Parts: sequence; C-alpha cells; structure tokens
Amino acid sequence: MQRRVSSFIFPFGLIFTNILTGASPSPRRYDPLTTVRLRAESEPRIWKDLISSRVQNGTSQVRFDISTPWATLTTDALLKLDSPQVTLINASVFDWWYFDAVSDTNPGDSFVVTFFTSSATAFPFLDSGESSILIAYMWASFANGTVFSEFLPATFAIVAGGDGAAAPSLGNWSSAGFSWTAQKEDLSHYEINIASEKIQVEGRFTLSSGLTPHLPCGIQSETTDLEIAPHIGWASLTPDAVGTVDMNIQGSKLWFQGPAYHDKNWSDRPFIESVQSWYWGHGRLGPYSIVWFSYLALNDPTNTTYVSSYVAKDGHVLISSCNSSILTVRPFVTSETTSDRYPPRAGDIPGGFKLEFDLGGSNSWLIVNVLVDTLVAGDREYYMRWTGKMTGEILQVQSEKRQDACPATPSETRSVTGQSELTGVAVFEQFALLE
Ligand SMILES: *[C@@H]1O[C@H](CO)[C@@H](O)[C@H](O)[C@H]1NC(C)=O
Ligand SMILES: *[C@@H]1O[C@H](CO)[C@@H](O)[C@H](O)[C@H]1NC(C)=O
Ligand SMILES: *[C@@H]1O[C@H](CO)[C@@H](O)[C@H](O)[C@H]1NC(C)=O
Ligand SMILES: *[C@@H]1O[C@H](CO)[C@@H](O)[C@H](O)[C@H]1NC(C)=O
Ligand SMILES: *[C@@H]1O[C@H](CO)[C@@H](O)[C@H](O)[C@H]1NC(C)=O
Ligand SMILES: *[C@@H]1O[C@H](CO)[C@@H](O)[C@H](O)[C@H]1NC(C)=O
Ligand SMILES: *[C@@H]1O[C@H](CO)[C@@H](O)[C@H](O)[C@H]1NC(C)=O
Repeated sequence: MQRRVSSFIFPFGLIFTNILTGASPSPRRYDPLTTVRLRAESEPRIWKDLISSRVQNGTSQVRFDISTPWATLTTDALLKLDSPQVTLINASVFDWWYFDAVSDTNPGDSFVVTFFTSSATAFPFLDSGESSILIAYMWASFANGTVFSEFLPATFAIVAGGDGAAAPSLGNWSSAGFSWTAQKEDLSHYEINIASEKIQVEGRFTLSSGLTPHLPCGIQSETTDLEIAPHIGWASLTPDAVGTVDMNIQGSKLWFQGPAYHDKNWSDRPFIESVQSWYWGHGRLGPYSIVWFSYLALNDPTNTTYVSSYVAKDGHVLISSCNSSILTVRPFVTSETTSDRYPPRAGDIPGGFKLEFDLGGSNSWLIVNVLVDTLVAGDREYYMRWTGKMTGEILQVQSEKRQDACPATPSETRSVTGQSELTGVAVFEQFALLE
C-alpha cells in the first residue's frame, strides 16, 4: 500500500491582491473602539458579512461567551455560534469553520473541508506565501491509502445567517468554488458544495444530525463560556452526524457514509502563543457519539490540563463538560511508532490514544482505544490528523469488601458488565509545539 501526500500550491492570492488593492475594507457590524469582547445583546438577528481577502489593520473584537438564559440555547444563540466570532481578521487572530466525515466501513475513506479566515501569521499551518486570508482547504483520503489535499484562496467570502435569514447559516468562498449552507434553523442539516475546475474537484458533502451543539463546558446558566482554554474559542456545532460524501476528485470517485462532524474555532491571538499540546478527536462507536479535547497551554505555571468531553448514547447526551477529572487522553505506541511520551513534544508520533471517560452516576466508565490508520494531514512533527478505528467497552467500578485478606479495606475491582465490545471509527489529531 502506497501512502502519498500530494499538495499543490496555487499562488492566485498574488493576482487577487493586486485586483483588490484599493478596495475598501469590508463593512463591519461593530465599533472597534467600544469593547473588546462582543456583547450578545448588541447584535443583529440577521447578518451578512462580506469578508475581504486582505489582512485588516486594527483591533478585533472576539466573542468568548454567549447569552443562554435559563441554560437553554435559543435559536438566536445557536445561529450566532455558527457566525463569525471575530469582527475583523487582523494579522494575529483566526476564525474558521471545519467539517469532516469518515467512512464507517473503512476509515481509510475520509473527507475534511475547512473554511479559514486567517493569515499564516495567526495560524502557522497555512501557507506563509499566501496573501489571502480566505483559504478553502480540503483533504480527502481513499481506502487504498492515497491522500489528496488542496487549498484555494478566495477573493472575498460571504458569511450570512441568522434567525429568519434566507439561509440560517451560509458561507461562500465563491471564487474558490467552496460553500456551506444550513437550510433549517436548528442547523440539523448542512450541505457543503465544491465545484472547482482549478483543482478538478466537484461534489457534495452532507451532514444530518439531531444533536445539539457541544460547547466547552456544556450549556451553562445565563452565560455560556466558549473559551475552551485561554484565548481559544470553540463550538462543536455538530458533535456527530450522519455524513454522506459524494465527490469526484481529479477523476476518482469518493463516495461513502459515516460519522461526520462540524465545529468552529477562533482566537484573539496567534495559535503558537497559546498552544503547547492539543489532542482532539471525534467518532462513533456502537451507540456512542464521542468528542474529546485535552490541551496544555504554553508556559502555563499552573500546568492545567484543559479538557472538554462529550458522550451521547443513541442521541441522548450523557456528558458535555470541561471537568478535567471526567476524561483522560494518553498516547500509546505500536511497533511502528516512536513515542507515548506525555506531555507530547514535537515529532512524537503515537500509534493511537487511550481515552477514559467517567460516565459518572453509576460508577461506569467508557474506555476507548483509538488506533491510527491513515495520516490525512500534517507535517509529522508539530501537527498530525489521522483517521482510524476505535474499540471500547463500558466498565463498572465496583467496591467489594474482601472478607478474607484485608477486611477493613474495600478494594476496587473493575469488571465489564453487560456491554459487548464496541467498535467504530474516528477522526483525531495532535498538535505538539514544544521542541
Ligand atoms: C494596513 O496598513 C498598512 C500600512 O499603513 C497599509 O499599507 C495597508 O494597506 C493597510 N491595510 C488595510 C487593509 O487597510
Ligand atoms: C488584532 O486584534 C487582537 C484582538 O483584539 C489584538 O489583541 C491585536 O493586537 C490585534 N493585532 C494587530 C496586529 O493589530
Ligand atoms: C456561492 O457563490 C456562487 C458564485 O456567486 C454561486 O453560484 C453559488 O450559488 C453560491 N452558493 C451559495 C451556497 O450561496
Ligand atoms: C487509490 O485510489 C484512488 C481513487 O480510486 C486512485 O486515484 C489512486 O490512483 C489509487 N492509488 C494507488 C496507489 O493505487
Ligand atoms: C480546531 O480546529 C481543528 C481543525 O483544524 C479541528 O479539528 C478541531 O476540532 C478544532 N478544535 C478545537 C478544540 O478548537
Ligand atoms: C503537568 O501535568 C501533566 C498532566 O497531569 C503531568 O503529566 C506532567 O508531569 C506535569 N508537568 C509538570 C512540569 O508538572
Ligand atoms: C468533576 O468530576 C468528578 C468526577 O466525576 C466529580 O467528583 C467532581 O465533583 C466534578 N467537579 C465538579 C466541579 O463538578
């Protein structure tokens, strides 16, 4: 099996920049001089942002919380979660929309598309020679191990939506030929369309889900925090969906169904000023939909592990929390890989991850092994994104009084109760920025 990462760079940004020289900055909704953090109340219910491809001068305002009266996500709040979270893209901030799917029959088949509004200064995994901040990026992997990745800069983008808008959520990087639309205001269905002659890709990717978003600490009363770790905003709008990918990629057909996912993340400062290490992933095993995030901040004197965990069973949410005792994520090695060091450092390549979710209540745990199958993106040093298979089981922790040896000490014994082995597929990643 041959694994090949192909990447073609299209330097159209230079041409577009010249065309755009002299264009006025895009219309903005906020007065940049008032507050740095957005106030939910002050915003319109319908928005349409025309985003320029140029890096803007000035200070951005960034949303890191959202109003959730009575601990519920109103339609208005839900739609705002999928809107731009940063008012203008200067050289140090980023904001993007991410969608993926992996085949439930062979995790070698996968598809990812990201709509970036970021410079390479803010997010260094973008091409530093690219002057457009509007990058439509796609990665496709085929069951035979071939990986295809391409990105295209756009000349401008439209992000529109809101309660009562033509489409409740819409993004169009139109000159690149990439767009997303959600036609229902519960955001239960997304459609991503790609039509690009330049990279010879055409097709459709749909996500359907009945789940409400997973926010870093779940939905809280009055105001819900969107800052998963210092300076990192995150909203997992679709923690798990039924994905259908139907793409024609340079003459090759990529068709599959499987677990799909949509989130967006953003920040008010460059990625490398915040991140030491980052594990993230999602997938479905048996009736369980899971999302994991475990993060260490750079130069953090408190050595805090920032965690966010999500578990739903048959569409019913069991966990949506940032309590760090609920989830541990640790790398493991296989015969082909080099490191299970934790915390990870640049260049550490794990064979997979072991996840332990505390399901609470009845002392039960969901234990999952995530095994690397295909490297879909990354430089094998600072960033890697994989697809793979998962196996898991539910463990019950029982306290038993041992009458014989040590009567006074209850010993904890873990035993599997009732649940046969769970299997599934996942998309997952590691950032390790410390040398
Ligand atoms: C930002 O400021 C620089 C230097 O003054 C200027 O050359 C550039 O055109 C400005 N960019 C925008 C988008 O206004
Ligand atoms: C961009 O906006 C952020 C957030 O308000 C601010 O901290 C930063 O200084 C700005 N960067 C530039 C290059 O103006
Ligand atoms: C995106 O823009 C293109 C070009 O203007 C248009 O043909 C297409 O219908 C738009 N897509 C959406 C989802 O609005
Ligand atoms: C893998 O499959 C894709 C899609 O059918 C095809 O384009 C590619 O050439 C294949 N690669 C190898 C190494 O066989
Ligand atoms: C951040 O963005 C990446 C896409 O590059 C995505 O895989 C991940 O889910 C996001 N996670 C967080 C916590 O922001
Ligand atoms: C920081 O915390 C992690 C996770 O708890 C631990 O493995 C590591 O040894 C700690 N590092 C330091 C320097 O205390
Ligand atoms: C966090 O989870 C642990 C283990 O489930 C629990 O004991 C603790 O009370 C929780 N902490 C908070 C603040 O909810």
